Amino acid sequence: MGMELPRLSLLFLILVFGFDWGFFSGVYSYSRPPPRKTIFVEHESGDADSATSPQQVHISQVGQDKMRISWITDTPTPAKVVYGPSPGSNGFSASGTTSSYHYTMYESGEIHEVVIGPLNPNTVYYYRLGDPPSAREYTLKTPPSQFPIKFAVIGDLGQTEWTTSTLQHIAKSNYDMLLLPGDLSYADFIQTLWDSFGRLVEPLASQRPWMVTQGNHEIEKIPIIHKTPFTAYNARWRMPYEESGSDSNLYYSFDLAGVHLIMLGSYTDFDPNSAQYKWLQGDLGKVDRERTPWTVVILHAPWYNSNTAHQGEPESYAMKAAMEDLLYRSQVDVVFAGHVHAYERFTRVSGDKADNCGPVHITIGDGGNREGLASKYIDPKPEISIFREASFGHGQFEVVNATHALWTWHRNDDDEAVAGDSVWLRSLSSDPACKL
Ligand SMILES: [Fe+2]
Repeated sequence: MGMELPRLSLLFLILVFGFDWGFFSGVYSYSRPPPRKTIFVEHESGDADSATSPQQVHISQVGQDKMRISWITDTPTPAKVVYGPSPGSNGFSASGTTSSYHYTMYESGEIHEVVIGPLNPNTVYYYRLGDPPSAREYTLKTPPSQFPIKFAVIGDLGQTEWTTSTLQHIAKSNYDMLLLPGDLSYADFIQTLWDSFGRLVEPLASQRPWMVTQGNHEIEKIPIIHKTPFTAYNARWRMPYEESGSDSNLYYSFDLAGVHLIMLGSYTDFDPNSAQYKWLQGDLGKVDRERTPWTVVILHAPWYNSNTAHQGEPESYAMKAAMEDLLYRSQVDVVFAGHVHAYERFTRVSGDKADNCGPVHITIGDGGNREGLASKYIDPKPEISIFREASFGHGQFEVVNATHALWTWHRNDDDEAVAGDSVWLRSLSSDPACKL
């Protein structure tokens, strides 16, 4: 029968982390400052019956006026949400579905998903989960339906003391929606760490929609032992892909307050014959710049990167080769990426050259994961790279109106959320020099 299971798993882990750390991929090594320790968040029950009490609650936008509520219980309980616009109100209710998954020896809890709405924009709702409804009442605020709107942007979040620092800063920012360009939990095959991550982010993710796309740490495929990729990610972080005509949770789009947001999948097929490419082509073709003057793309592996980390990876250069022209011709304003554990902002760029009608590329992979920072850069700095720094932090993208948006990067150093980089952007749709 060959190698026994634990030895096989160990070999695979070495290979996976080896690739991730660049030992086998031709990336020369770089030293990262010491990461902070991983946190494990236990389930704390607020209910008498902890087995059916909700945990890992997070919400995500569905269409213009609905919200998906996701939560997990240890034992079966109805997927039902009661909600209303004032505390203790249960004037509205909705039911949904429950699923679970297996991963080697691990068996997940009951994963509940209920879509509620229609909801009014920019409004606080109170909600309770299960049937009978949980003793604990949660609150959420829907995003505005028109400008201004404020996005928090953070990649490679993980669950360390750096992560908690980042989350504290984001919590103070009064954002409307969080955008996460991949690498969420860094569970890395240890499924209980997905549960811990769900509990860690719940205080924020239960209150504002968290819209995510996947990174390499979400793949969690093990040859022979677990052949299906993205099992935990797809089960736990279902996004509104059907609504945008996508056939995969790994890429989707949605409109919000005058912004068309596209979440791409760096770790699924992206060549011109792929389902993702064809979907993207169709999706960009439908963008109505009158209704959504801004278009933003979020993906994991950056197409532009002057850090020495993660150079030469096909998810970066091959995806860029396949899709960059498509994004350029559709006047995509900004591309947010993660993967490299640092911050970098490029000028408007296309085909490796500055281009006033191309997107601004921003790497924001500095959320706080256990691997630490990527602190070595290619010298000299390419001219198209405007600002680069290896510090933990997060970004805020405030779209003020149809023509202007403010991007700021806040570093976490010294546990203070300091604005380290800031730039006003003008939408390409409003620039006469970039007329289509
Ligand atoms: Fe990554």
